Amino acid sequence: MLRLGSLLSLAYLLSPGAAAAAAPGWQFVEKGLSGIVALEAIVVSPTLTVFFDRATNDPLHTSDGKVAWGALWNLETSEVTALKLVSDSFCASGAILSNGTMVSVGGNIPAAQDLNQTGAVDGRMGLRLFGPCASPTGENCTIFEDLETLHLAETRWYTSSLRIFDGSLMIVGGIHEDTPFYNTDPVNNIEFFPKKDGGVPRPLDFLNRTVPVNLFPRVFALPDGKVFMVANNQSIIYDVEANTETILPDLPNGVRVTNPFDGSAQLLPLSPPDFVPEVLVCGGSDKSDQTPVEELSSQDPATSQCSRITLTTEGIKQGWEVDHMPQGRIMPEIITLPNGQLLITNGGLTGYAAVDSIGVTTGNSNADHPVFTPILYTPSAALGSRMTQEGLPTTDIARMYHSTVTLTPQGNILMAGSNPNGNVTVVAPGEPGFSSEFRVQTLDPPFMALPRPTLSNVPTKIAFNSKFTIGIDIPAGVSTSSIQVALMDLGFSSHAFHSSTRLVFMDAELSGNKKSLTITSPPNNRVYPPGPAFIFVTLGDTTSVGAQVMVGPGANPPVADQGVPL
Ligand SMILES: *[C@@H]1O[C@H](CO)[C@@H](O)[C@H](O)[C@H]1NC(C)=O
Ligand SMILES: *[C@@H]1O[C@H](CO)[C@@H](O)[C@H](O)[C@H]1NC(C)=O
Ligand SMILES: *[C@@H]1O[C@H](CO)[C@@H](O)[C@H](O)[C@H]1NC(C)=O
Ligand SMILES: *[C@@H]1O[C@H](CO)[C@@H](O)[C@H](O)[C@H]1NC(C)=O
Ligand SMILES: *[C@@H]1O[C@H](CO)[C@@H](O)[C@H](O)[C@H]1NC(C)=O
Ligand SMILES: *[C@@H]1O[C@H](CO)[C@@H](O)[C@H](O)[C@H]1NC(C)=O
Repeated sequence: MLRLGSLLSLAYLLSPGAAAAAAPGWQFVEKGLSGIVALEAIVVSPTLTVFFDRATNDPLHTSDGKVAWGALWNLETSEVTALKLVSDSFCASGAILSNGTMVSVGGNIPAAQDLNQTGAVDGRMGLRLFGPCASPTGENCTIFEDLETLHLAETRWYTSSLRIFDGSLMIVGGIHEDTPFYNTDPVNNIEFFPKKDGGVPRPLDFLNRTVPVNLFPRVFALPDGKVFMVANNQSIIYDVEANTETILPDLPNGVRVTNPFDGSAQLLPLSPPDFVPEVLVCGGSDKSDQTPVEELSSQDPATSQCSRITLTTEGIKQGWEVDHMPQGRIMPEIITLPNGQLLITNGGLTGYAAVDSIGVTTGNSNADHPVFTPILYTPSAALGSRMTQEGLPTTDIARMYHSTVTLTPQGNILMAGSNPNGNVTVVAPGEPGFSSEFRVQTLDPPFMALPRPTLSNVPTKIAFNSKFTIGIDIPAGVSTSSIQVALMDLGFSSHAFHSSTRLVFMDAELSGNKKSLTITSPPNNRVYPPGPAFIFVTLGDTTSVGAQVMVGPGANPPVADQGVPL
């Protein structure tokens, strides 16, 4: 009986499955363990991703026997190597400079009970430099820290970092010191690395107006060099050169999107010839930011609202256009894919960010009901039909507070982390809450299982406003009726925000013999802030592996304006 049953189900699976097997779908693939909680993640080379955690009780150790809180993840071998850090990178941000060096920014005071095992020092003024790393395995690539000579002007925890038009980092807001939930000790200013203004931070009234729900402001470099910011339910355009704010309309319906009410935001892909910027903001909470913490519950529903604005005079006049995800999400993250679609993933249906700090928690977690199925967002589709979960797989790994996601140079999506606890914690089955998560997985688009175009002779460096030619090998059967060439910064993932992410489409012409592509680079350093990028070519539904290039001179910031104005 049993045997017959399994034969029948096998037959059942095979007949409709036979057709389905020919067309691969999206899938989650488990890849191994991260060694530390991957609370922050950034791709730093074609083969390597850096993870950061807080200095706590992670299982991975450095060669001197101390507990590690930084690690290199090898995208090809799924091996993890400890990185030795000096200061605590807990809830830091980061980005890559115009010269290819990655900088991790800000952090926290290490917890007293962890000091013996980590030896970490106060990281709130931390600037941690890494690379560029040419070794595929990361051999001899180390983090450089010298807090005596290299540090921020202010203590900053929960600060945002963004590479701007001159290749330096703009560092926005944060909190001076540990507070349990709301931003009650705000750093209402910005500073830069390398320093501008003699190192004196610039007060930013926007940060004052968005207290107490303005941690990790969501900030984007616009194609004219100005910076868009959204925090709490407010948004502005900040002119870095004139030091002025232009106030934009509030997000509709009282929706708030920065920590501890984390929604996420993303700059939509920029296309020639006009590179018109549009911003998408999804998830978060519509709870009042004056609600006493005792009245907040991990069961409070998150908002499903997505708001989108076009940042032209006309678009700003029209204001935010409201759309809805298939479900509410607190702490979603939005990443851009090489074909111009966006992926919305991670987070929970209810609650808030942070740990053990509101009236009703779920174990240590301020949030509950993880969402296990990502959403694909198609910017060019009509309002109401932009989002779908159809064909996307469902995982059983919760990615709640302190989780990360990033597009990889291979073209799939790396997911890691989640730890809504004060340190590395195992929650027993049946107990409320979520264990610290070490399992790394990828979400593989269907093309990962198909023959893909391969790129060759990609220059290591490209100048702005110039044409360059690369080789392309197109597998038989791949249509060339649509060709998209994406220049991408893969961004830095921390706290439901992927900062410095950028996709600039480039015009490209396929040669008559279909063996080469002649590509036109972005017109100037404001459309793509100078620094490293990956070039991906998408033909129909199939995307190549990304080829790393340096965009601009590769010089130390600040880099002078390059190319031609828009
Ligand atoms: C983990 O945190 C708990 C309290 O949340 C503390 O009692 C314990 O000492 C910590 N363990 C380590 C190894 O840091
Ligand atoms: C740290 O180590 C010292 C020396 O080994 C010991 O005296 C102290 O109790 C330890 N502190 C903690 C918090 O474990
Ligand atoms: C790493 O450093 C060692 C010692 O200096 C050297 O022998 C080795 O070649 C280096 N490896 C790489 C990949 O640079
Ligand atoms: C915010 O601005 C108000 C009015 O200018 C001022 O009174 C207040 O001190 C500022 N708050 C902070 C945290 O800077
Ligand atoms: C934004 O939030 C503030 C309070 O923080 C509120 O006064 C204002 O009405 C909100 N804006 C909208 C459009 O809901
Ligand atoms: C990149 O620039 C930063 C800021 O000037 C500098 O600290 C760093 O050493 C530079 N990296 C390289 C590889 O020169």
